[in-house]
Amino acid sequence: MAKPLHILAALALLSATAAIGSSVIAQDRGVKGLRDTPINQLDAAPDLYKQSTPAEGFGRSYRQQPPLIPHKIDGYQISTDNNACMTCHDWPGNTRVHAPKISETHYVDRQGARLDKVAGTRYFCTQCHVPQADAKPLVGNTFENATQVK
Ligand code: HEC
Ligand code: HEC
Repeated sequence: MAKPLHILAALALLSATAAIGSSVIAQDRGVKGLRDTPINQLDAAPDLYKQSTPAEGFGRSYRQQPPLIPHKIDGYQISTDNNACMTCHDWPGNTRVHAPKISETHYVDRQGARLDKVAGTRYFCTQCHVPQADAKPLVGNTFENATQVK
């Protein structure tokens, strides 16, 4: 059943007022959107950053942190029938290329059973492990790592 037109118009007006209201509040509090350009204009392309690949790897900010990836991963595809990361990070292949073996926790399934292959819950590596670039944070923050807050 179609809604009467005047109700639709009232709803549209209400949501427009709410949108304007919240953007005014956001401005008052000094909050800025990531997009500077008006919505009907093209935004400038974001800066390109070179991936950081420190030979000594990255430090961890807290004990349970998935380690960051210290090498390029552009060519390593992860699909349902092939996981290129595992060529180097599963035992015994890892010993040939001197890569760290995936953590023992990655061979344990949701029920706590130990498996001889990577658990499905850990299959898509880049859900947790990511490359890094030495880029300015998009939004300022006061993050301190676990050793700094002690
Ligand atoms: C050609 C072999 C190779 C492939 C493929 C590969 N890696 Fe690596 N990876 C390494 C080596 C070797 C290291 C040790 C550091 C180094 O030499 O860069 C490493 C280090 C890492 C580390 C850091 C571990 C730590 O304890 O700091 C992570 C995380 C990682 N790789 C994730 C991945 C993921 C995710 C993929 C797939 C997208 C992948 N790697 C594919 C060889 C590989
Ligand atoms: C659900 C998140 C998650 C996924 C998915 C995942 N990891 Fe991890 N990984 C972690 C965490 C957290 C750690 C550090 C704590 C630990 O050892 O469990 C870790 C540790 C590692 C380490 C370091 C091991 C060590 O002994 O220092 C390597 C290498 C690694 N992962 C590779 C991989 C690869 C390759 C994949 C994909 C097959 C993968 N991980 C998938 C979260 C994940």
